[in-house]
Amino acid sequence: MTGSSEPGPGALRLAVLVSGSGTNLQALLDAVDAGGAPFEVVVVGADRDGTGGAERAAARGVPTFVCRVPDFDSRADWDAALARLLAEHTPDLVVSAGFMKVLGPEVLAGVRVVNTHPALLPSFPGAHGVRDALAHGVRVTGCTCHWVDDGVDTGPIIDQRAVRVEDGDTLESLHERIKVEERRMLVEVLTHLAADRSWR
Ligand code: GAR
Repeated sequence: MTGSSEPGPGALRLAVLVSGSGTNLQALLDAVDAGGAPFEVVVVGADRDGTGGAERAAARGVPTFVCRVPDFDSRADWDAALARLLAEHTPDLVVSAGFMKVLGPEVLAGVRVVNTHPALLPSFPGAHGVRDALAHGVRVTGCTCHWVDDGVDTGPIIDQRAVRVEDGDTLESLHERIKVEERRMLVEVLTHLAADRSWR
């Protein structure tokens, strides 16, 4: 890492939660490495072993943890453990970037959470936003960045980007084009939230 990629004083401390390949996380790390980003990634947490996201974090020297639901007696215990693990790193904000679990009340009481979703909410919430939009036959879909509340993809919308559905699109081709927009949106949203902290 060069000196120019060091986060400036007052950089927004982000904890990023992942379940999969972590390309949205990578966009945040790349923005930090490019220099001048008003945020830093202080920890990456996953809900399963062996995620690409955790690998990306480790390659970059970012601390990681895994917090798996099946390792706890109850969902509430998992939520409490996740809240503790996050709090150890004193994040200003948690980013749910492809984290495929609904966060519980302890996590949400401790810190504000931003989620990125691969559809234009309130349409197609849940774990299969791209598949559901494609199955419905929409001609335009996209991605949404929103605050997380106690519902599933119901919190206040921060930003959205539209993506056209092309003839012959598959789940994979459409999701990949959405993710190109999603990664840009996420970096821009966090840059904005770092500059205007009235949400705190
Ligand atoms: C992203 O498209 C994100 O919106 C989606 O998972 C993908 C993760 O990609 N999340 C959801 O569907 C949550 N409901 P990534 O691991 O490459 O960042």
